[in-house]
Amino acid sequence: MTGQATLFVNAAQTVTCAGPAAARRGSGMADAGVRTGVGVAVIGEQIAMVAPDDRLRQRFPHADEVDCDRGLLAPGFVDSHTHAVFGAARYAEHELRATGVPYLEIAARGGGIHASVRSLRETSDDALLALATERIARLVAGGVTTLEVKSGYGLSVAEELRTLRVIRRLRDALAVRVEATCLGAHEVPREHREVAGGREAWLAALEEELHPAVAREGLARFADVFCEPGVFTAAESRRVLQGARAAGLELKLHADELHDGGGAELAASLGAVSADHLAAVSDAGIAALASSETVATLLPATMLFLGTGRQAPARRLIEAGAAVALATDFNPGTSPLTSFPLLLTLAVSELRLSAAEAWVAATVNGAAALGLAGVTGQLAPGFSADLAVHAVDDHRALPYWFGERLCRVAWSRGRACHP
Ligand code: NIG
Ligand code: FE
Repeated sequence: MTGQATLFVNAAQTVTCAGPAAARRGSGMADAGVRTGVGVAVIGEQIAMVAPDDRLRQRFPHADEVDCDRGLLAPGFVDSHTHAVFGAARYAEHELRATGVPYLEIAARGGGIHASVRSLRETSDDALLALATERIARLVAGGVTTLEVKSGYGLSVAEELRTLRVIRRLRDALAVRVEATCLGAHEVPREHREVAGGREAWLAALEEELHPAVAREGLARFADVFCEPGVFTAAESRRVLQGARAAGLELKLHADELHDGGGAELAASLGAVSADHLAAVSDAGIAALASSETVATLLPATMLFLGTGRQAPARRLIEAGAAVALATDFNPGTSPLTSFPLLLTLAVSELRLSAAEAWVAATVNGAAALGLAGVTGQLAPGFSADLAVHAVDDHRALPYWFGERLCRVAWSRGRACHP
């Protein structure tokens, strides 16, 4: 590797997550590669060396230096599940749920996802881009250097494609890495619900029009489905996903979020890259994920914000040998959270992970949930220079000092993205 090097030195502790370029599963999640006295050399977009500071200075005597000031040096977080392109917030539903009206009941009344569909359709491309840019900047300010963004509030072929083109503009404009997912199967659109045969017509539109068009235009890498009793059944989800795969897209699922709908088993049987949510996953679903390559992505902020009093069985998933990742699910209905570090707190306090497991879930396993395990998620030579410095001196301190804004610096692909 040639070019001017930048050294990240004077860290109190370094979380490397270094190891195989693959998801860590089961007991393999317990080792986050935490080291002391170790810094990182960046050349261009890549990590060139991870070594004690004096060895870095010997090897790169003319390098620039970033002083970590006795902070924590770590891989950038990979937020593998967001719905970051949306119009208005949904304050009223938050209070409505507090009075006891369930999430799916609000949707049945025309609120929920449908409210966000109305709002997105009324918002111009430029306004959506500006809103998403400002919201994503808050995620990045917490140390996120790669994120996935889903469509799913357009719910017509034209509006889904429009959303994905906004996501492409984000991908081109932002310093962080953005991966796009088509979530045309987020719901059956209202206008289809109200006419006979409308449900079938939307499923056919996904299969015959939307997914082929998305693949043709290269607008998304993944397709996703909200597989949930009352939304899409496992049989419908299978049909949508098989069509998406035939069109050339990789697969993700919203699986078993509120009720068990067989989503985890479906994800594993289709070889989906991830199955997300899983708060209501069955024992059979846990076993299916554990014996598959599908990453179990947990979204603990969603369960907290919905006030369900429940969380996904993270310990049982890990003990069964599954690979667990963490993501924000950033969206206006169930998780308006832009602080990724708060997820580490929820992972320890609510999901009962160790701090090291939470770091692995937030970095290397998040990368695997986007098919990027060979690209990002670890501080190791050859990986993308995606890293962050947090104003704490111990990897356990970030989950501990919860709710604080402690990320001082973040770099994505060898360039500063925060501040
Ligand atoms: O992951 N569950 C489906 N989708 C989102 C919520 C979408 C919304 O309510 O706007 C989720 O929780
Ligand atoms: Fe989601």
